[in-house]
Amino acid sequence: MATRRNVLAVVALALATAVSSAAPAVAGSDNDTLRAAARGSGVRIGTAVDMNALANDAEYRALVAAQFDSVTAENVMKWEAIEPQQGQYDWAPADRLVDFAKANGQVVRGHTLVWHNQNPSWLTEDAFTPAQLRQILRDHIKTQVRHFKGKVYQWDVVNEVFNEDGTLRDTIWLRNLGPGYIADAFRWAHEADPKAKLYLNDYNNEGINAKSDAYYALTKQLRSQGVPIHGYGMQGHLGVQYGFPGSVFDNVRRFDALGVQTAFTEVDVRMILPVDATKEQAQGYGFSTLLQACLLARHCVSYTVWGFTDRYSWVPGVFDGQGSATPYTEALEPKPAREAIFHTFQLAR
Ligand code: G3I
Repeated sequence: MATRRNVLAVVALALATAVSSAAPAVAGSDNDTLRAAARGSGVRIGTAVDMNALANDAEYRALVAAQFDSVTAENVMKWEAIEPQQGQYDWAPADRLVDFAKANGQVVRGHTLVWHNQNPSWLTEDAFTPAQLRQILRDHIKTQVRHFKGKVYQWDVVNEVFNEDGTLRDTIWLRNLGPGYIADAFRWAHEADPKAKLYLNDYNNEGINAKSDAYYALTKQLRSQGVPIHGYGMQGHLGVQYGFPGSVFDNVRRFDALGVQTAFTEVDVRMILPVDATKEQAQGYGFSTLLQACLLARHCVSYTVWGFTDRYSWVPGVFDGQGSATPYTEALEPKPAREAIFHTFQLAR
């Protein structure tokens, strides 16, 4: 049986077969599911969940339950959704996801506590003093993490805090609180739920580059200061037209060596439309490359796709002329990418 360490040696051959072979039906036996393939690999297979789709689309709902053992709220745990008015929290949509996960034997990744995006207007438009903002941030983190205590096993505590060149991103938090807001956010989250694993999370940080170097240095620094940081999240928003980061395993391995967990948190692989067989094959390779890096690492614990079907993907709305970024078509048919994920997991069991 292949182990996590020798999976790379056999995966290339299997992939070549996988992407060309007939795909199993969506409603196959339990053994045909992604979560069955992932079982025993040490890596959870997750998806972002669109709560409107979960409520209204029975086929979508059935696939979330059958194929994945981890879920992330695509939007409903973000600040604008959770605390739309200061001090008034709307837990209902996020609670529905937590209940769904419990009913289906899934864990929940929390996304996200501190971000420069999708913040409520009361927060960004009102002129608060730095002292007030610090109190607001503390209250938000503590209230949200406490609400989900024991129910959310990992939190993206800070999201996208670095620029591409490795300097800290200019945000309301950096401007008003200075760089110490990051350590504070981790400490407050840890106080609210000491068992939750607390993550940094970003995009374009999968391979070794200025941004991931900055995360490496920050992780080392925070750990040496005793700040409760447990994980490094790589979103994994890739595109076949850009190729795939070759140094991803080396990057994951250096965080491994620091003693923190790693996770791929938002994987999708977009392409310039129209779709063709070559692009789909390349897409399968992209999904598989990140998964292989995760399986090869000692402490990579989960691999989450950012939506599993083109029916609800965020990509076409943001990247003009691009799409088909997920492992299932709009009709919920599995693509070669879905089979690439499946076979990469199977080989690692
Ligand atoms: O909630 C409003 C709704 O009331 C309104 O009717 C509708 C009209 O457009 O918009 C709704 O808000 C949208 C929101 O998703 C919820 O559906 C926003 O317009 C839309 O911009 C927002 O997009 C989300 C995006 O983050 C915002 O930055 C995407 O769904 C979500 O997939 C995406 O996720 C991010 C991760 O959190 C962080 N990493 C990158 C990733 C992709 O951008």
